[in-house]
Amino acid sequence: MAIVLIGFMGAGKTTIGQALAGRLNKRFVDLDTYIEQREGRTIATIFSADGEDYFRQLEHEALRTWLPEDIIMATGGGIVEREENIHILNQNADTFWLNTDIEKLFVRISGDLSRPNAAEHTFSQIKELYNKRLSRYNEIAFMEVDSNKTVEECVELILTHLS
Ligand code: S3P
Repeated sequence: MAIVLIGFMGAGKTTIGQALAGRLNKRFVDLDTYIEQREGRTIATIFSADGEDYFRQLEHEALRTWLPEDIIMATGGGIVEREENIHILNQNADTFWLNTDIEKLFVRISGDLSRPNAAEHTFSQIKELYNKRLSRYNEIAFMEVDSNKTVEECVELILTHLS
């Protein structure tokens, strides 16, 4: 079964996922990178050219493509925007929720033009989105990982819960 890392933008899903995959000697798939490679354009371009709904459809299809595999996956922070993704993850993955303080996340993602849902957003807009998604992350998560900790500590926490 796939091990999937979920959580808000900037929580460290890709970095921790790569480190975890290295420890478990498994393939790592970053869903956003996969979508960008398949489409031959960046997520920011997909959002501006075709809109967020179109991106969510690509994201949903990518999730379905990869989930049967025995891999470590990092999703985008908005994977919980679609109800059906929540269902699929609940049924088909061991899902870990990386949760970092919103103040830290804001510093990391604010002004990042590669993240259209953060780039030009104020702190209160980002916090509203974070609060909206919290209960959904919680609903899916097999375990919440405090990703204010270091990458190594997070990896150890996940490994402990897998064994
Ligand atoms: C998004 C998060 C991004 C990416 C897209 C939308 C979101 O992934 O999927 O820009 O709505 O939270 P990261 O969580 O890796 O930044």
